[in-house]
Amino acid sequence: MNIAVFASGNGSNFQVLAEKFPNNVKLAFSDHHEAYVLKRAEKLNVPAVSFELKEFINKATYESELVEILEREKIDLVVLAGYMKIIGPTLLKKYGGRIINIHPSFLPNFAGSPHAIEESWEANRGLGVTVHYVDEGVDTGDVIAQVTLPYLENLAEYEQSVHEVEYRLYPDVIEKMICR
Ligand code: GAR
Repeated sequence: MNIAVFASGNGSNFQVLAEKFPNNVKLAFSDHHEAYVLKRAEKLNVPAVSFELKEFINKATYESELVEILEREKIDLVVLAGYMKIIGPTLLKKYGGRIINIHPSFLPNFAGSPHAIEESWEANRGLGVTVHYVDEGVDTGDVIAQVTLPYLENLAEYEQSVHEVEYRLYPDVIEKMICR
């Protein structure tokens, strides 16, 4: 199974996946040229591509370019790992049912929030991590795996606990998909 990982920034989840599945992770994509994920990809010898929405006339042409690359690279599964854009109809039409996302809250709590860790911690509600299929809504697709986390007094420690769970949960889900 050929996997592309989309990430907008840091890319620590990308790195975990690329190290765990070196034969499957064939491509990293970022919607920001300066994203640190691109440096991680270079170090790990994973081919990487970046382009930005503002370089296209609209989201449909941006996503058409992505579809072309995904098809050329024979990608079977798109893994969103800190990709902070909503997947639009152009990508969904071609890759619907083959795009998964990880969200740092127990969905449906804090769906769509780009600050779900901080917000769930502040509210002491919906603490956890969810992996789900991507549909036309925002963080509304079918849940594949979900973990709840205990509240920790310190936000930085809580954030770390979220990432530790992510680094286990996402590989577990993907391993099952690869073995299916
Ligand atoms: C992760 O915590 C991921 O769950 C979150 O972004 C972080 C990316 O970290 N995703 C979202 O908030 C999606 N709405 P990373 O770039 O170090 O992998």
